[in-house]
Amino acid sequence: MSPALPPSLPAGEATRRTALSMALAGMAATAHAQQASPELNPPPGLWQVARGRGFTFGAAVQANMLATDPLYAAAYEREAGVLVPEFEAKWSSLQPKEGEFDFSGLDAIVNWGQARGRPVRGHALVWHEAFPDWALAAIAEGPQRARGVMAAHISRVLNTTRARIRDWDVVNEIVADPPGSDTPQADGELRNSPFFRALGPGYIETALRMSREQDPTLRLVLNDYGVEEDTPWAEEKRRRLLNLVRDLVRKRVPLDAVGIQAHLQMRNPFSPAIFGSFLRALRAEGVSVLITELDVREGDSVPEDYVARDRLVADRVAAFISASAEAGVRTFLTWGLVDRFSWTVIQADVARRDGKLHRALPLDWEYNRKEMWRAMARSFNTAA
Ligand code: XIL
Repeated sequence: MSPALPPSLPAGEATRRTALSMALAGMAATAHAQQASPELNPPPGLWQVARGRGFTFGAAVQANMLATDPLYAAAYEREAGVLVPEFEAKWSSLQPKEGEFDFSGLDAIVNWGQARGRPVRGHALVWHEAFPDWALAAIAEGPQRARGVMAAHISRVLNTTRARIRDWDVVNEIVADPPGSDTPQADGELRNSPFFRALGPGYIETALRMSREQDPTLRLVLNDYGVEEDTPWAEEKRRRLLNLVRDLVRKRVPLDAVGIQAHLQMRNPFSPAIFGSFLRALRAEGVSVLITELDVREGDSVPEDYVARDRLVADRVAAFISASAEAGVRTFLTWGLVDRFSWTVIQADVARRDGKLHRALPLDWEYNRKEMWRAMARSFNTAA
């Protein structure tokens, strides 16, 4: 069989995805693999395993792949209990021009999910990426215009999706990266984003309050990354995120949950005890915690043997899920499902530099379950 090409790219994404040639190179390595089949992937799917133990499992999905790749659609139908649009609910997809909204991609995912009883969660209303130039320019005109742009987007999107999406990442990636990262931010604890520059730190509160006003029973989520591992950098990012959440709670800003992205990196150590106590501290503020974008970037060198390689990833994921479940997390979402469509192989700045392809997700290049899938199923089954 000749493997399908990685997904076609939404407008504006193409330049970010220059790792396509690396992805193609990796296909040779898996040419011997077996095509996905019911025998290799018998029921129950991961979402059913999770549900049987009181957990929710789902994954980020791409509308164009659902429509064009039957093996991909079958994998999602089998495994994913919740769908998260990987691009289709971002600002540049929903409002590419001021006042001109396009819900077609998101609708496609919601319709596909509804036909199968799988809810969709929204991602993301306010984010500094996937943010069109017109909005950047408008926001730079001043605070009043910035508020107007934010209000128009939030109100149109939430009013359009109200009946079918009950859970949204309202603000995404708002804590600044501590010094020492690849992408230095401003000096403050919050990211120096377009809305931050226009409205100051209060833009977070504004976005959450606007969302609550539009939809009093929507689950409002603050989603962020970099808080999972046992490094001084992550420790500082945890401190900043916890500070922010405490501040919002103290001010009675509407906030229902914190999403932890969980783009794990094997090059960093992981401490279940440290991560677990961070999650407990968050939950002690009265918010739920969701794992929203789980995937694993492998270490700088990896074993030649795929089974040994996949086991390292699986062990990390098992430790991560167990620590999270022990701290009361019930929702686990992966950022994609099938390795070949993962941003960790497609996007240059997260792809490996040695030409190999990250094996970041529960299903392998041929859409079959691998060690990570089994580790997740085991973790759900053995969790309290
Ligand atoms: C990523 C997509 O997976 C990429 O394909 C895209 O080019 C950039 O965005 N954190 C998030 C997600 O909140 O929206 C990002 O998704 C991955 C990091």
